[in-house]
Amino acid sequence: MILERTLSIIKPNAINKHVIGNIIKRFEDNSLFVVGLKMIKLNYHQVSFIYSEHKNKLFFNELLEFMTSSAIVLLVLEGHNAINRNRLIIGHTNPAYANIGTIRKDYADSITKNAIHGSASQEAANREIYYFFKKNEIYSTL
Ligand code: CMP
Repeated sequence: MILERTLSIIKPNAINKHVIGNIIKRFEDNSLFVVGLKMIKLNYHQVSFIYSEHKNKLFFNELLEFMTSSAIVLLVLEGHNAINRNRLIIGHTNPAYANIGTIRKDYADSITKNAIHGSASQEAANREIYYFFKKNEIYSTL
């Protein structure tokens, strides 16, 4: 097993449902531990950076509007196989296909308002984590 870090973003609709604590508990119960945390309001540039691969997609403007609509929570999560396990706990991008017990099954409202983001790969995780966090803002206990 590989020890990894990944980034999750608790999206505006989940913030508005007051389930930040519930979502963090799901990660902690699955041995994905919070080693970095920030609550911020994203701007256009930050959303464009995170979702650069989607900038030319038809849904990008809707995604941009949603992601800048209120505060979000950034979580750096650490654990064994953190990147894949984070995505399993989160569930399918489209909540219509999300498994029972996943975060998106419980809190997503649509494919855009799907409650939470998780880094898709090791490369994406490093890119996303170090865009938002300085090295001394991550508090690994290992
Ligand atoms: P996320 O995992 O944050 O990564 C990219 C996001 O783009 C995704 O969650 C969705 O919120 C959004 N997205 C992906 N595909 C679509 C789509 N077909 N229509 C609308 N939004 C989408």
